[in-house]
Amino acid sequence: MSKSKNILFLMSGSIAVPKAIVLLKMLLDDNFIVRVACTDSTFNFIDKSEVESLTGFPVIHKNFQNKLDMEHINLGRWADLCLLCPATANTINHLSYGSGDNIVGTLFLAYELGKKPFVIAPAMNTQMYHNPATRDSIIKLKNWGLDVLPTNFGELACGEVGEGRLLEPDFIFSYIKNRYFNGEPKKKILITAGATKESIDGVRFITNFSTGRTGAKIADQLTLLGCDVTLVKATSASLPKYTSNIINFTDFNSLNQTLKNELSSSSHDAVIMTAAISDFSVDKLVPNEQEVKPDTDLKISSTDDLSIKLKKNFKIINNLNSYSKNKNLKIIAFKLTKTKDQKTQINAVDKILSNPDIHMVIHNDLNDIESNNHKFNIFSRNSENLPRLDLQAATNTIYDSIQINLNQNKIKETQV
Ligand SMILES: Cc1cc2nc3c(=O)[nH]c(=O)nc-3n(C[C@H](O)[C@H](O)[C@H](O)COP(=O)(O)O)c2cc1C
Repeated sequence: MSKSKNILFLMSGSIAVPKAIVLLKMLLDDNFIVRVACTDSTFNFIDKSEVESLTGFPVIHKNFQNKLDMEHINLGRWADLCLLCPATANTINHLSYGSGDNIVGTLFLAYELGKKPFVIAPAMNTQMYHNPATRDSIIKLKNWGLDVLPTNFGELACGEVGEGRLLEPDFIFSYIKNRYFNGEPKKKILITAGATKESIDGVRFITNFSTGRTGAKIADQLTLLGCDVTLVKATSASLPKYTSNIINFTDFNSLNQTLKNELSSSSHDAVIMTAAISDFSVDKLVPNEQEVKPDTDLKISSTDDLSIKLKKNFKIINNLNSYSKNKNLKIIAFKLTKTKDQKTQINAVDKILSNPDIHMVIHNDLNDIESNNHKFNIFSRNSENLPRLDLQAATNTIYDSIQINLNQNKIKETQV
């Protein structure tokens, strides 16, 4: 139960208004004081009296509703947070050009941006969401410091399938509570993603197939849950959508050095190791029977005969605790196998868990990825193994194990 806090809940004319009402009820049930202001088209989807009976306050929908009362200023000053949900394409575009010709626009213009959060939850048809006007407006609003949430991918009211669906009410509720009304400091999490590249010479390297997508998605989901996330990613790996703190690595040594620097300079709560780190680095090159050290200033001729001697790398994961300022660092390992034999899979996981520093292993198998059934098995030292989960559910489990206390706020559905 939250201590009472004031939320100014803005709505606009979207088919998702009934979902916003579910969220409104969740906030009220949790002791938030909520006042609603909306555009006139919102009343195509809800009765004013219904909202008024829920909140106990009049719904403000006009600039001069109470003659010369300064509601457009007062409501913003009263609020601890302003939420626009659902946000139509029209209202998003409207805000981005600073129009005060309706009450939502005026409240936005008078709001103390930068001092208090302004959260926007868009809801619209996919084309409207991808329209360049809407895209530009969203970027503009984000640059002004507004917290524009993503949308879900799924079936839309118009029958089409795509991006633009309003996030589920329980997700927005958890997000707002965890990010803005959780008295505890944000959990600081470092995530590695993508493939190392071990240079042979200035134009060639040894790498693997990791795209970094899993790490980027986990980073985004944890960012949306209010964690302070740093994504340490391979230069060519997928970019996250919502995580802005990014550090690039190239090879094994640069990844190792980055982790050492980051973990020793500030206290992290957890590290999630999704990066595919090379087990070997290039030790020596032998072109035409002449031994040379690998060097990016070098270019081996394509006509040369070449042998490459590799050296075994150490397991960075085993050093993380010694690098870390926080000696209670939670280390979450990822293990990819390529076998249908469960015993072999479990042996591979057990080998990782033999390191007592490792808190949890998220296992996946290449056969599942190839058959488009990418599921994760979670193995934790202290709990029974969970059923196979999709990435989102697996991330929720990771989050719970880092954060705990989210049981009543579990997220059912979100797309990152
Ligand atoms: C049934 C129906 C549902 C609509 N749903 C949405 C929606 O989900 N998102 C959106 O951006 N526009 C939607 N629209 C269009 C907006 O209602 C329209 O652009 C309106 O002018 C928005 O006004 P407002 O932003 O001032 O509320 C819908 C229109 C209709 C007729």
